[in-house]
Amino acid sequence: MRTTVGIIGGGPAGLLLARLLHRTGIDCVVLESRTRSYVERRQRAGMLEQGTVDALRESGAGARLGAEGLVHHGIELRFERERHRVDFPSLTGGRKVTIYAQTEIVKDLVALQLADGPPLLFGARALAVEKAESEAPVVRFVHEGRELTLTCDYVVGCDGSHGIARDAFPADVSRTYAHDYPYSWLGVLAEVPPSCEELVYARGPGGFALHSMRSPSVSRLYLQVPNGTVGDDWPDDRIWDELAARFAIDSDWRLERGPITAKGVTPMRSLVHEPMRYGRLFLAGDAAHIVPPTGAKGLNLAVSDVRVLARGLAELYRTGSPELLDAYSDLCLDRVWQATRFSYDMTTMLHAQPDGDAFDHQVQLARLRRITASRSAAAELAANYTGLPLTV
Ligand code: FAD
Ligand code: DHB
Repeated sequence: MRTTVGIIGGGPAGLLLARLLHRTGIDCVVLESRTRSYVERRQRAGMLEQGTVDALRESGAGARLGAEGLVHHGIELRFERERHRVDFPSLTGGRKVTIYAQTEIVKDLVALQLADGPPLLFGARALAVEKAESEAPVVRFVHEGRELTLTCDYVVGCDGSHGIARDAFPADVSRTYAHDYPYSWLGVLAEVPPSCEELVYARGPGGFALHSMRSPSVSRLYLQVPNGTVGDDWPDDRIWDELAARFAIDSDWRLERGPITAKGVTPMRSLVHEPMRYGRLFLAGDAAHIVPPTGAKGLNLAVSDVRVLARGLAELYRTGSPELLDAYSDLCLDRVWQATRFSYDMTTMLHAQPDGDAFDHQVQLARLRRITASRSAAAELAANYTGLPLTV
């Protein structure tokens, strides 16, 4: 097979890139190792920055997002049994965020891609990227039991944190920076209307808890748990009791309970792979970087990467100028490190440190109080949360 841009991975990064390229007349093929129903059901992100919403609209995937996405103008911080609202529009000159599940973004993009887009092959597992430094890089992959090759002008690894594209970078050109946090998240989906109108980030007695949502009738909740936790250790009643304890405040408020329909544990990790380009191979999204979920930057970073890449490729094929494409890695890494720092700050401010002492706890509370007491500290949180401006 031959194509202009070979995309490995049909998650949000790969699917959105394919749509953006399709709209500028650049042909591509997407190879996705899993089945359609698997990728459409994988429970993950839900909070979208305005730039992410704009990119999805630009790609043609804005209709259901516009109709069903929940626009939020702030978040709530809870600690010491009190609630404090951070109002985004007044702190950022009008910015806001949208709650719309990653599962729905993937469904919308897959439907568009299958309707009129370039090929999207499910059950197509990439084995290796070869000749990345040449003018015709090749992806070796397996599809329907046969080993095949895809020869391209450019290859983009959108194959997530366990992908294979990164392996094609020679050791002497790559650097990986990684940090493992000493706790994980237990995430649940529950058939119950959210008990709050906006997201609640709580530093409770046993540690962190987050109340998010997927729709007016479905809640999404997360609990800090020790590393190594398995979902079976947490029967539903234990989850609800612990959530209620961590969200508890002195004023009148109640956590509504309902049937839990999905449960999963996510370790908290940060990783940045530099550079994000080698020869004619690019990395985008989780394939190049992962952040802990506190502050919801992962999907938003994946989208800003492919926005820059799509523009760079469009400019190259339209005008012959490689300028933007050549700046891709540096432009993206700048934003990636800002998101890495922000998610580190949010994570360490809100989670109980397993070996922490009373001093550590007091410093955490002082960081939280600073945000609630100082307009400039709150504005700094709001600017990062709603998304730093895209530089292209
Ligand atoms: P992925 O979604 O991982 O997609 C990669 C794709 O590549 C997969 O479909 C995979 O099957 C495929 N693949 C892998 N290897 C191969 C191969 N060899 N051949 C072919 N295909 C392959 N981010 C936010 O912005 N906001 C949030 O609110 C948020 N909340 C989160 C909550 C949780 C609990 C978790 C775990 C993550 C959250 N994130 C959030 C992060 C976000 O989900 C990821 O950053 C996002 O999925 C990255 O998209 P991606 O396309 O780069 O990678
Ligand atoms: C969600 C996840 C996050 O990590 C976050 O900070 C906000 C929302 C979510 O899944 O809805």
